[in-house]
Amino acid sequence: MIQKSQLDLRKFVAPEFVCGHGALQLAGRYARNFGMKQVLLVTDPGVRAAGWAEAVGESLTEAGVSFTIFDSVSVNPRSRQVMSGKEVYLSEECNGIVSVGGGSPMDCAKGIGIASSNMRDILTFEGVDRVPVPAPPLICIPTTAGSSADVSQSALITDEERKRKIAIISKALVPDISLLDPEPLTTMPRELTVDTGMDTLSHAIEAYVSNASSPMTDVHALEAIRLIHGALPAVVGEPDDLDLRFSTLLASLHAGLAFSNASLGAVHAMAHSLGGAYDLAHGRCNALLLEHVIAANYEAASDRYGRIREIIGPAQDERTTPAEEVAAFRKALGITETLAAVGVRVDAIPALAEQAYADPCLVTNPRNLTCEEIGRIYEHAF
Ligand SMILES: [Fe+2]
Repeated sequence: MIQKSQLDLRKFVAPEFVCGHGALQLAGRYARNFGMKQVLLVTDPGVRAAGWAEAVGESLTEAGVSFTIFDSVSVNPRSRQVMSGKEVYLSEECNGIVSVGGGSPMDCAKGIGIASSNMRDILTFEGVDRVPVPAPPLICIPTTAGSSADVSQSALITDEERKRKIAIISKALVPDISLLDPEPLTTMPRELTVDTGMDTLSHAIEAYVSNASSPMTDVHALEAIRLIHGALPAVVGEPDDLDLRFSTLLASLHAGLAFSNASLGAVHAMAHSLGGAYDLAHGRCNALLLEHVIAANYEAASDRYGRIREIIGPAQDERTTPAEEVAAFRKALGITETLAAVGVRVDAIPALAEQAYADPCLVTNPRNLTCEEIGRIYEHAF
């Protein structure tokens, strides 16, 4: 691990956010305050069917703000979807974006914003700080507790031609406000709850052991681990419990603040590669990789993994490793399959490893991994 000092210069970027029951209903008031007259409301068919797009639309109408719904967004949003959203944004003469949904609609909304303001193809923004013109105002209302797209300075878009995910990282992608309401989380099916929860845990663990962590990000990362570890198994049994849902939402917020400023590591580098090639749910990819990356990284950050073990492991029995504790947590949530079981082929490993090796998230992994070592971590997940 790179030697760090707490005196090293650090920047901490965060949006304004409002959390609590009823936050969703503030969408209209904030849209009006931002001067929005015609909004592109970016969502997806599932969130729309659950009624949350309609609820946000009512809030906008009550505030006298017109809107057009754009819901042509899939899991792992495609560059083509971003570009058709940009066409709707421009043709409807919108001057602001509101996104209600999980990571996919929110990342798509971020993409539509920068593609519209810069009049460029979304794939040209790949990398760090490559957005010259700021995006129009963006309000996010998350309906899952995991992606943290509502607070982060990144967006992941799938390049369908090359079957890979591109990462866009820029302060221009930080929403202007995030409205964190536990109620929309109650319509999440069990699988989405556990997958997004494992995404939260992965964000927090990767941010805590990241080479770019700082005292500010550590506080958020550790609190996120404590909250999600306590609330996720319970919320699976009590999906309508607003207090438990809110704990997972707070965990996601803390994890988002941590990773947006400390970046991530090999779990996400490898999950991006997997998700791009096989169109698998992002949280599930992380869940299947997390313990194997921890085992590979352990020696490079043993103190930090030890602290994580203190939070998630039984205090009375210290014989288990952090990787074993994470594996036990995953299994208790009902995630028991291997990469083979979700359709990944062993002969795809070299290409997956090569893609992960080039991912910007790998830069802050606590251990320098070679392409071959990444391949071996994939093998362990089979
Ligand atoms: Fe993630």
